[in-house]
Amino acid sequence: MKVKEPVITIDGASGTGKGVVSQLLAKQLGWKLLDSGALYRVLALAAQKHGVALENEPALKVLAEFLDVQFIATEMGRPPKILLEGQDVTDTIRTEKMGNAASKVGALPEVRTALLSRQRAFREAPGLVTDGRDMGTVVFPDAELKIFLTASPEERANRRHNQLKEKGINVNLGDLILELKERDQRDRERAVAPLKPAEDAICIDTDKLTIDQVVERIMSEVRKIFPSLHTVKE
Ligand code: DC
Repeated sequence: MKVKEPVITIDGASGTGKGVVSQLLAKQLGWKLLDSGALYRVLALAAQKHGVALENEPALKVLAEFLDVQFIATEMGRPPKILLEGQDVTDTIRTEKMGNAASKVGALPEVRTALLSRQRAFREAPGLVTDGRDMGTVVFPDAELKIFLTASPEERANRRHNQLKEKGINVNLGDLILELKERDQRDRERAVAPLKPAEDAICIDTDKLTIDQVVERIMSEVRKIFPSLHTVKE
């Protein structure tokens, strides 16, 4: 029987810090990283590019199956460059509009099934850190460690606002809170793979914690599970 590589899943809503926490964790461990949200965002962009409506499940399923997406590793611990049909879409997919569109395509069961094997293929030596909504519940139910990050809606909207501002994207905070709530509701209430902690997940409220404190809290759990683990950076 093939021994499966270890997986650590980091799930949570947007603005809980899971993206940057996953990146830092993967860097410390020297493990691979899967940003599953990026896949849904790329699919939404592909739909827009090919004139496919975000409700057209059969067409989106086919688009997901044949999605020509590449994650090109850059510097260790930095987000990869993302190519759709050979074109750099790393920044294009990061807008709130694409986040919302991704949430719509992500609500379609056939789309989720079509993306399953693609996500599982990221499981490679020496291990994988995954960032998403259903990583611990559906995609990697056998993960060694499952983390679920939470934060209050206000804190999350503030963080998103600052992140977008840093990228030169200006959005109204009030609009952002509304969009975030709408997206949360869809992600939580969808029939398939809704945003929720796995039964065996460790929940961490990040409201009063810095990113480094969240990473350290997760690393303390990692050390319990893998006592002889060598990290790249302590
Ligand atoms: O993590 P993110 O903000 O990049 O994700 C964008 C949307 O993609 C999110 O609102 C819902 C969808 N998504 C999903 O359905 N399942 C995942 N594992 C990751 C993202």
